[in-house]
Amino acid sequence: MNQTELPVDPPQFYDAHLFVCCNKRAEGHPRGSCAAKGAEGLRDYMKTRAKAMGLKRVRVNMAGCLDRCEHGPCMVIYPEGVWYKIETEADVDHVLTAHVRDGGRAQELMLPNA
Ligand code: FES
Repeated sequence: MNQTELPVDPPQFYDAHLFVCCNKRAEGHPRGSCAAKGAEGLRDYMKTRAKAMGLKRVRVNMAGCLDRCEHGPCMVIYPEGVWYKIETEADVDHVLTAHVRDGGRAQELMLPNA
């Protein structure tokens, strides 16, 4: 292979790979944690809803701390690298519908990337 040629990656295994922070810290920790804000239930709901919606090639995974604790409960979707704050089941539905199913964005829930 020529040194200037870029490697060719295999096709993506998932069309959308969703990581929901479910990190749990001790009560009173200065950064708080997504689990203390209900992230585990929201992640379970997201997984159930994604399946019920018939979304294919989509994976919802529990993640450890994503280091955006102050914005939690938070999640990120790859390959786009778009971050969301999800506080309610309605937020989860909105992300799944607007972003994952329709390919747009749930604009009002997006976190800034800076
Ligand atoms: S605890 Fe969720 S991003 Fe750190």
